[in-house]
Formats: sequence, C-alpha cells, structure tokens
Amino acid sequence: MPPKDLAIVILAAGKGTRLKSNLAKVLHQAGGRTLVEQVLRSCAPLGAKKMVVVIGHQAEQVAAVVEPTGASTVLQFPQHGTGHAMQVARRGVGGARLVVVMPGDAPLVRTETLRALVAAHRAGNAAATILSAVVSDPSGYGRVVRKSETQVGAIAEESQLTEAQRDINEINSSIYCFTLDKLWPALAQVKPNNKHKEIYLTDAIAVLAAKGETVLAQVAPDPREVLGCNTRADLAEVDGIFREWKRNELMAAGVSIQLPQTVVVDSDVVAGEDTLIEANVQLLGKTKVGARCIIRTGSVLKDAVLGDDVIVEPHCVIVNSRLDERVTVGPFARLRPDNHLKAGAHIGNFVELKKTTMGEGAKAGHLSYLGDAKIGSKTNIGAGTITCNYDGFHKYPTTIGNRVFIGSDSSLVAPVRVGDGAYVAAGSTITENIPAEALGIARGRQTNKSGWASKKRRELAAGADSKKSARKRTRQAPRGKTKKKSRRR
Ligand code: UD1
Ligand code: CA
Repeated sequence: MPPKDLAIVILAAGKGTRLKSNLAKVLHQAGGRTLVEQVLRSCAPLGAKKMVVVIGHQAEQVAAVVEPTGASTVLQFPQHGTGHAMQVARRGVGGARLVVVMPGDAPLVRTETLRALVAAHRAGNAAATILSAVVSDPSGYGRVVRKSETQVGAIAEESQLTEAQRDINEINSSIYCFTLDKLWPALAQVKPNNKHKEIYLTDAIAVLAAKGETVLAQVAPDPREVLGCNTRADLAEVDGIFREWKRNELMAAGVSIQLPQTVVVDSDVVAGEDTLIEANVQLLGKTKVGARCIIRTGSVLKDAVLGDDVIVEPHCVIVNSRLDERVTVGPFARLRPDNHLKAGAHIGNFVELKKTTMGEGAKAGHLSYLGDAKIGSKTNIGAGTITCNYDGFHKYPTTIGNRVFIGSDSSLVAPVRVGDGAYVAAGSTITENIPAEALGIARGRQTNKSGWASKKRRELAAGADSKKSARKRTRQAPRGKTKKKSRRR
C-alpha cells in the first residue's frame, strides 16, 4: 500500500558553482543518467502521493527531464538556500503529513535506505529524522551534533564549526524525513545567519530540538550512499561507485567480467548467464546482451540488442542495432543505427553498416559499406563492396536477394535490386537491376598485350642511361659556375 500521507521534495534549484560548469549541477551525469533522474528513481518506489522537484538554474532543461517521470516542479527564484527551497516547495506538497527531502546531488541513496528512514521516523514519532553517515573524512559536510545517544541537537555546517565539532565524523546527508506541521513553523524562525545570507534547512533542526521536539538521526548502512556531487572529483567518485555496483550486479547474475574496473556499464543494461565481457568494454544505454555471448576488448555497444551466443570481436562500435543468435561481428566493425543481423550472420573487419538488414547466415567479411540495404539469407558480400546509397540529395535502397554472390570491389548504385541466386562479377559498378540467377557484369573488358612489359622495361632502361650521362656532364662543368653558391654561405 503506498503511503497516502507522504510527499517527496527534491531540491534541485542550485547552480553547482563548485563544478565550474555552464550546466546546472543536477543535469550532470553519474552512472549513465542525470543526477536528478537517479534521485527520482531512488525515491519513486516509495509511492509517495506527491513528488515535487524544486527547480531554478536552467529550470526549463531540468523540468524537461523531471516532468516526463510524473513529478511536478516548483520554481525557486532567486535561490536563497536549502531552507528557502523547502519554503517554495510548500505549495507543491498539498496535504501531506510527512515529507522525505532529498538533495538533487546525492544520487547513490538506495530505496531501502529511504524506506528505513521513514519507518524510523514513524516509529520514533519524530518531528525530524536525519539520514546520517559515519565517514572517515567529514570535510565539506554538515556535522550531526547529538545531544544524547538517540537525539540530535543541531546540524553544524562546515563554516560554522567550533573546534570541538570539527572532529565529529557523523555527517548530514541532506536527506531527511520531516513531519510537515512541525517543520513549517520551525523554518519560519530560521534566519540567514551565514556568510552566504541563505536560509539553511539544516538550521531548522536546532530550532526543532530547542522546542523539545524529537529529532532523530538514522545512520546509512553504507556511507557511500550519501555522497554528494559538489565537485568534478565527487562526480567521478560517484560515477565509479554506480559502475562498480552495476558490474557486481551483472557478475552476481552469472556474467564474467575481465578487469572489472575497466568496464563501463550503464544502469539499464542487462546480460545473460555465461556471457563474457572482456577488459575495456562499454555497454551503454538500453543494451541487452543474451546468454553465452562474448564481447571482446575495446568494443562499445549503445542501445544494442544481442541474442544468445553472439560474438563481438575486439574494437567494434554497435549503436541501436539488433543482432540475433550466433551473429559474429568484427574486429573493427562499425554498426551505425538501425541494423538487424539475423541468426548466424557474419560481419567482418572494417565493415560499416547503417539501416541494413542481413539475412540468416549472410556474410560481409571485409572492408564494405552497406547502407539502406536489405540483404537476403546466405548471401555473400565480397570484400570492398559499397552500396552507393546517396546522390548528394537523397538516400536510396539496395535490395539483394537470398544466396546472392557479390564479387569483390563492386559498387551497387542505388536504387537497385539484385535477384535471388544472382552473381555480380568482381569490380562491377552495378546501375541496373539484376534478375534472379543472372550474372551482372559491368566493367571494361580486359585485353592482354603480349610482350608489352619487356619492351617497356627496355625503353625505360634506355631513358635512365641517357639521363645518367647528362648528369655526369653537368658535374664536370667549370668551377666558376658554382661560385655564386659558395659566396652565399
Ligand atoms: C548540504 C547541507 C549539508 C550536507 C550536504 C550533504 C545545507 C545548508 N547544507 O550542503 O549539511 O552535509 O548538503 O550533501 O543544507 N538547492 C536548492 N536551492 C537553494 C540551494 C540549494 O534547490 O537555494 C539544492 C541544490 O541544487 C542541491 C541541494 O539543494 O541539490 C543541496 O545544496 P548544496 O549547495 O549542494 O548543499 P551542500 O553545500 O552540499
Ligand atoms: Ca551538495
């Protein structure tokens, strides 16, 4: 049962000055998604009746990411701090009794951890429950100042720390659960008493505690879950953790990964049992890999869908393409978007494909460009075959039937059709359709001139001799002629 009394507020209006970027902080990526998307995904399963994202910097771009998820947005302008952002969010949360507040820049938090936070808040009948973490280096974070074993007295921001507080290693994650009818009056009492003249949400904690309200802190099971992305170094660290978790998930599902630290896998990727991913592979976007596949080193797959037993040899780039079972590709193949390679098809080295279908067992082994082409089953495309699909204005299709043999170094000038079982002679430039079972040949006829080569060689040798003697003559010329040169030195 989704909780009817719960709202979620995500604070995502800040610029992210410390990133030194033109892009708003929450639009930076980690684990293959923007930070704000990652945060939305971690809290969406809570089933809150309202999800509100506070936007400000690059509001339009942030809204474009947020709104398709069903969350609503409120505009904070100008941005006067995290407490002010909460005040702005008030009109979005409706009649909710509890709110989970999340910063837009801490994307690693797990849904289970949020559930536990809400449960602890309810169980303790608290006004506020802070998700905290115990870390070895607390610098840069607000510190949780406890007034007893169970109760919190305040959050001290880095800039406000006393000497004694500096050693506190329990930090504020900026993720909280609040009881709203306690939060609003406390927040109204917070003054912008800091060098940025901002209203800090953290200061509402001390106000609540001073009123004798219950303020709890729940320690996150894994301190990495609360890492915030204030700097590029933070972003790299958080991205690395997402990638590590994802690789561990794949390995737990029966996928082998060589040198895992070198492999980049986006969150939505899936792979089947006994698949092997070699070092330095990237599996991006919505890539799906079947069982018993081998993805060899240096290959990059984005939105690719692979059946079972597919082999991708080293250094292939495959984008938005479907490879059915037992397909083999590469090394050094480039599949641009919209290809479909049917079962057992083979694409070899230095072959580029775009919007092309290869029938079952069809082969293009070497050095080809196949674009806007439909190629039948068991057809063989010889080395160096080019579909000339573009006349500078429009693209045209090439249709090749089943069991066709295209001889090496042929150009197929589209639109053109080659019927089932036809042959194309090597080196042809095909401009007209070839009927089934026919031979298409389109090249100059060969003539052999007997004795031509030896005659040519004799001529060339004679020419070389006369040049040599001419050079000898100039070298023996009187010294006076070279005087100019020596004087120049
Ligand atoms: C904040 C906390 C700090 C905590 C840390 C955890 C405050 C004052 N400090 O610091 O105790 O340890 O997070 O990561 O809250 N935002 C707005 N509107 C604003 C200001 C900020 O929406 O006016 C948003 C930002 O876009 C960001 C989030 O709030 O997503 C947190 O702001 P940030 O500036 O990153 O706070 P920290 O300095 O990290
Ligand atoms: Ca932050």
